[in-house]
Amino acid sequence: MANKHEIVEKNIGLLAIFAIIAISFGTLVEITPLMFMKDTTEPVKGLKPYTALQMEGRDIYIREGCVGCHSQMIRPFRSETERYGHYSVAGESVWEHPFLWGSKRTGPDLARVGGRYSDEWHRVHLINPRLVVPESNMPGFPWLEENVLDGELTAKKLSIFKEYYGVPYTDEDIANAKASVAGKTEMEALIAYLQSLGTALK
Ligand code: HEC
Repeated sequence: MANKHEIVEKNIGLLAIFAIIAISFGTLVEITPLMFMKDTTEPVKGLKPYTALQMEGRDIYIREGCVGCHSQMIRPFRSETERYGHYSVAGESVWEHPFLWGSKRTGPDLARVGGRYSDEWHRVHLINPRLVVPESNMPGFPWLEENVLDGELTAKKLSIFKEYYGVPYTDEDIANAKASVAGKTEMEALIAYLQSLGTALK
């Protein structure tokens, strides 16, 4: 008489069912605790929601496809931390929707670029990167300097982040959102965003 294991091995349907059960169980064991751990679900101390202007800058970062060449995720290896600073931790990203961690590094990681350069450096670099980094192959984004924000949707964006993602914006932040971005250039918004990156964790 065949032993029980042989029955499973010779029956492809049964084998598939048991394989799915085994993999699902493994997945649950790995993932479920992450949903309840403070380390991965609570903001790091000192994390501030993006200001209205930074929020607009983040949308420009998404629109211009910066994420296609830049990651925002420093891995915990010495070669990375020596170059970019402290490795990224989950608590820095709890208010990020969608995540902009990226996976392609044509350019350097930007997770801690905030404060590394002056606003003026960023402005010149974004208009034409070769003016400050001669060997750069990053494209220029000169139109950011000309496009002016009207702030029509800014309050709505903040309230969506508050309502759906639990980002602690106050009613005052939302009420002042439009006024604090209207008339600013897209360049100013993008730089405000870049200067905020990675500054919560010292
Ligand atoms: C085609 C790929 C590409 C795209 C798209 C791109 N970059 Fe870059 N970026 C690079 C490369 C390569 C460098 C390194 C050379 C340099 O500093 O210009 C770089 C450098 C940078 C730096 C300096 C980082 C440091 O630590 O020195 C910043 C800031 C930056 N990019 C921001 C942006 C932003 C914001 C956007 C979107 C508006 C963008 N990049 C789009 C390729 C790209």
